Formats: sequence, structure tokens, C-alpha cells
Amino acid sequence: MNLIVAVDNNWAIGNKNKLLNSIPEDMKFFRTTTTNKVVIMGRKTLESFPNGLPLKKRVNIVISANPDYHVKDAIVVPSVDAAMAEAKKYNTEDIYVIGGESIYRQMLPYCDVAHVTRMDYCYEADTWFPNLDADEEWMVVAESEERTYFDLEYRFVLYARKSSREKMQGYIESHCME
Ligand SMILES: NC(=O)c1ccc[n+]([C@@H]2O[C@H](COP(=O)([O-])OP(=O)(O)OC[C@H]3O[C@@H](n4cnc5c(N)ncnc54)[C@H](OP(=O)(O)O)[C@@H]3O)[C@@H](O)[C@H]2O)c1
Repeated sequence: MNLIVAVDNNWAIGNKNKLLNSIPEDMKFFRTTTTNKVVIMGRKTLESFPNGLPLKKRVNIVISANPDYHVKDAIVVPSVDAAMAEAKKYNTEDIYVIGGESIYRQMLPYCDVAHVTRMDYCYEADTWFPNLDADEEWMVVAESEERTYFDLEYRFVLYARKSSREKMQGYIESHCME
């Protein structure tokens, strides 16, 4: 199972239920990586999307403890365990945890690979991702060149769980970026 996230220098990911920035190339990367795949998200992240609608051409699994919460074209599940049970129906390499903070934190232990867009800036924020550079279980396996969007520098970094590296080698090789 994979995750995909964009973080700033403090590993911040959001503010007031919005992303910190929208870099067109990063949005494209997110779209290309997750299209025709399965995405798992928290209820707040779904509601942060345009019109609160699920992502097209993807299986959307949304976690909410509210039993009355229903969303057209999404599978709503009541817990992380239920999301994992639903995810088991698919190939593990095709599953992407897409946030937000609460879901990343709870599902990180199940993830083998993390696609992290590192933005070289410190934004005002109220949600964060765990610092993978400070986590001994994770390592950087690939990194893009630095890129720029106006005056913002950013790069795509691929992290892998050390214990999953061998198992994920094929996936890692097919997802390396220049
Ligand atoms: N930078 C990025 O790549 C990125 C990606 C995604 C999101 N974000 C940002 O992250 C922020 C949102 O993060 P967040 O942590 O506030 O919200 P979130 O994780 O998206 O959603 C939280 C909601 O998920 C449900 N939930 C979480 N754990 C659950 C559990 N164990 N059982 C049942 N339901 C559970 C609850 O919904 P109910 O209240 O309905 O029960 C909870 O309120 C936003 O600012 C968003 O823009 C950033």
C-alpha cells in the first residue's frame, strides 16, 4: 500500500481544511499516479475537494464515523479497519492513502511506499505529516531534480519502508522520477 502527500519544510500539509499550495505539476503527478487506482481518505479531505465530490476514475474509500454519512460514487467505511478490509479487494500496489493528517497517521504503519512532494517553504499550517526523515523505518529511494513554480522550489521524493524495500523494488523502479 502506498501514500501520496505534499509537505513543506516542517512537514505541514494543510491549513483550514485546504492544501498549502497547488502546484500544477504536483496536481498532475497526483492525478497520473492515482488514476484508475484506489484512494483512501478521511471525510474532511473529501470535503476539501471541489464541491466535496469524490475523485473521478478512481475507487474512492472515505472514512467517517458518522453512520448517516453517504456520498454518491464513494465507498464510506466507519473505521480504519473497515478501510483495510475494503482495500484487501484490490492489489496492494494500487492503493493510495491520500490524507489528511489523521488518516496518514493511522495508516502509515500499513504503507510500504510514500510519494512525498517536498516544498521548500514554511507555511502557516494546522495539520502535519509525520517526519519520515526522522523515522528510522523509512528511507529515501529516489529523488527528482529541484523544480520551480514561480518562486517556490520543490522536488518529488520517493520514500520506502526499509523492511518493504525488496518486495517493492519493481514498484520503486517504475515510479522513479528524473
Ligand atoms: N498536503 C497534502 O498532500 C494533503 C493531502 C490530503 C489532505 N490534506 C489536508 O489535510 C487536512 C485535513 O486533515 P484532517 O486530519 O483534519 O482530516 P482527515 O484526516 O481528512 O479527515 C478526518 C475525518 O476522518 C474521519 N476519521 C478519521 N479517523 C477515523 C477513524 N479511525 N474512524 C472513523 N472515522 C475516522 C473522521 O470523520 P467524521 O468526523 O465524519 O467521523 C474525521 O473527522 C486539510 O487541510 C487537507 O487539505 C493535505
